[in-house]
Parts: sequence; structure tokens; C-alpha cells
Amino acid sequence: MELIDGKKISAEMKDEIALKVQEHIKSGGKQPHLAAVLVGNDGGSETYVAHKVKACEYVGYKSTLIKREDTITEAELLQIVHDLNQNEDIDGFIVQLPLPKHISEQKVIEAIDFRKDVDGFHPVNVGRMIIGLPSYVSATPFGILELIRRYKIETSGKNCVVIGRSNIVGKPMANLLSQKGYPGDCTVTVCHSRTKNIKEICVNADIIIAAMGSPDFVTAEMVKEGAVVIDVGTTRVPSTETKSGFKLKGDVKFDEVASKCSFITPVPGGVGPMTIVSLLHNTFLATLGEIYG
Ligand code: GUN
Repeated sequence: MELIDGKKISAEMKDEIALKVQEHIKSGGKQPHLAAVLVGNDGGSETYVAHKVKACEYVGYKSTLIKREDTITEAELLQIVHDLNQNEDIDGFIVQLPLPKHISEQKVIEAIDFRKDVDGFHPVNVGRMIIGLPSYVSATPFGILELIRRYKIETSGKNCVVIGRSNIVGKPMANLLSQKGYPGDCTVTVCHSRTKNIKEICVNADIIIAAMGSPDFVTAEMVKEGAVVIDVGTTRVPSTETKSGFKLKGDVKFDEVASKCSFITPVPGGVGPMTIVSLLHNTFLATLGEIYG
């Protein structure tokens, strides 16, 4: 069994990006600039956004954080999005989700100029990704593909089961792994809360991507000997073992599953650290105008 070390790979990738940024600026290029909009006081979101800002500093990007109370109206938030769309110094930006209930996330996502949508959530980016055109691929699927690439995991002709059908992980992941080329060419099955024989489906999988946000859902009896298991779960559960008072739990019962796997991602330290590096990657593409000119 080999542990997939997302912490190590993401650190390597950050250094690669930092080097590219240095070269880009030395040759007269613009300093990349990422903005993040954070609404409310959700602990998880605050932590994610703080990590994103720190990562920007590390690789030499400019970053702008726009923080608003959760009493902000939808119209006010849409105005912020509009202003960011118009701001020529900002190459890409994100609006951290979830948003308060009185604001339509879909409306906000669709208000973002797709050329600055480094989260890859806008329907234009999702649509382009699905038909194999250059696009911003959302952070978690991109990070998982990069782990597969860097650990040289074979995908061609493999049976892949994606558990979960969210717009930001399950749906894009299933599509990307079924696309032509590497990493792809998989035969993909999507399982979800209404799937009847989930154990029978999983036990035939060469690759399992667990992304339904249900702690310890994937057990040893669901996993074939030699399978690759990617755990996207990051449920916060109370803990007396950590300073913060909580810890992250994956969707895979790691202790009993790990010994059966050829490769497995831990939680934390697997997929999680890759998502920020994916955002940095997309932001650099935006600065270079690689996708939309
Ligand atoms: N909330 C959880 N993950 C993400 C993400 O990748 N982007 C945004 N904008 N919000 C999130």
C-alpha cells in the first residue's frame, strides 16, 4: 500500500508555481492577482479563505480579501461581483461557498465573468470542461487528477466508482475520468444516496472516489484488493485531541481499508491540500490568458 501524500505534492506544486511566477515577472509579466469574497463567519470558510490568501503570498501573487457580514443583501453581493468583473488588475476571483440562505448561490456564480471564474463553477466553464475544451477545472477534481498523474496511477480501461454527485466534485470528477486520454479512459459509475447495491458496485471498482460527505461510509468489505481509494470527505467532527476542538473525518474507514489498497489518500493530508494549489494553478492560467486570451 502506498499513501498518496497530498501535502508533499501540493508543496512541490506551490514551489513550481512560485518559480514560474518569478520568471513571468522577471520577463515583464503582470503579478497574478486573486481576490476572494467571504460572507459571514462560518469557521470552515474562514479557515479555507485564510489558507488561500497565505498560499497566494507564498507563490508571489497579490491577493485581495473582501469580507462582508452575513446580513449583506443579494444585490449588494452581486454588485461586488460586478465590480470584480470590471477590475482590470484582478485576474481571477472566487466567492467562497456556502452563502447565507437568502442569497442564491447559482445567481452569484452566474454573475461571475467566466473568464475570471478560477473556481470553475460557472456554467460556461463546466460546459466547456464536459466537451473537452480548455476551461478552468474546479479545484477538487483538478487536484485529484494531479495526484493520479504524479503517482502515475493507471486509469485506462479501469472501473472507477464515484460516490457522490455534487456539482463541484462528483459530477465533474465522473466526467473527467471518462474523457479520452490520461488520466481518463475509465469506465465510470456514479453512486449516490438512491443507489441500491452500492457495496456490490464498489467491490468491483479499480478506483473509488468517495465524495458524499458521510464519515466512514466506505468500509473494507466494499473495497477490492489492490484498489485505489481517493477520499474527498472533510466532515468536521468535535474532538478533544485538537486545539481547534474539531478534526476532519473522511468518507473512508481508513484503518480497515488502507491495507487492501494499492494507493490511498489520508484525511487530512490527501486531497485537501491539493485544492488550494489547483486554485493557484487556475489563477496563473488567468494571468497568462491561457484559456480565454
Ligand atoms: N467551498 C468549499 N469548497 C469551495 C471551493 O472550492 N470554492 C468556493 N468558492 N467555495 C468553496
